[in-house]
Amino acid sequence: MSVTVVGSLNEDVLVTVDRLPGRGETVVGSAVRTAPGGKGANQAAAAGRLGGGVAMVGRVGADPAGDRQRAALVAVGVDVDRLLATPGELTGTATIPVEADGGENLIVVVPGANGVLTPADVDVAEVRRATVVLLQLETPLETVLAAAGAAGGIVVLNPAPPQPLPAELLGLVDVLVPNEHELVRLAGAAEGERSPAELARLARGLGAGSVVVTLGARGALLVPAEGNALLQAPPAVQPVDTTGAGDCFCGALAQFLARSAGPAEAVRYAVAAAASSTTGAGARGALPDDGTVQALLPRLPRAVPVG
Ligand code: RIB
Repeated sequence: MSVTVVGSLNEDVLVTVDRLPGRGETVVGSAVRTAPGGKGANQAAAAGRLGGGVAMVGRVGADPAGDRQRAALVAVGVDVDRLLATPGELTGTATIPVEADGGENLIVVVPGANGVLTPADVDVAEVRRATVVLLQLETPLETVLAAAGAAGGIVVLNPAPPQPLPAELLGLVDVLVPNEHELVRLAGAAEGERSPAELARLARGLGAGSVVVTLGARGALLVPAEGNALLQAPPAVQPVDTTGAGDCFCGALAQFLARSAGPAEAVRYAVAAAASSTTGAGARGALPDDGTVQALLPRLPRAVPVG
């Protein structure tokens, strides 16, 4: 049983603000710090913290930020043999203002070395042989497509940040994991409040296998290829910072699917893990271990069918 994550690694610059700035506005922050981030690396770190058998495929710069990424992944047991240092490119960066109260954030990414991850880089045994291959969209689309094509196991795609997806890629994906905003963008629909049933209809129209829509404080919606959708609410927690909660969800989902769990069970586990991850600062500040998630599971409400 194994999980291989193909994706991005960024040095996060986390700025604490009273409220997020509007367009053209300047706000004054109260604190700044850096931490290893990137959707791919966050997902690998989450999966690694929850269990063994996790590998990361990606590119960093030949710089101190790249060294910090490598060390942070090794510390949670992730295999970094396919994490390549890239002379002439800097490790990707992400600037992230985070609201002091409630932890809402926004993110600006400069890809750096993530932008030169090639199809040849992902044509490796770690991708071909993994039980689950977990992908996002912070590396070139042709590389994401190559990884999905090379994968021999379950392909999970977190379409973040969102962009139009070729039918060829959607056809290779077994489980698509957008948040509500990404689902709406992928479906070409207008932004707005939607009920779980309306979200399930949008998800079914995408042409992917199963879809799992992450809904923040409302939990997650499992929309299987056939049968009823299921809404899984989270346990009550006091969020400090929601940065990377979706990444923890994806890492936990992949780790639990790799253990041959059914989709509803895996979504329940991932909802508990993601809720727990919001109780500390930064994308990896409170990544739970398996014992912590198992202890939270009895506090989750039962999932409800959505018509
Ligand atoms: O999902 C959170 C992540 O998005 C951050 O760690 C940042 O690096 C961006 O990739």
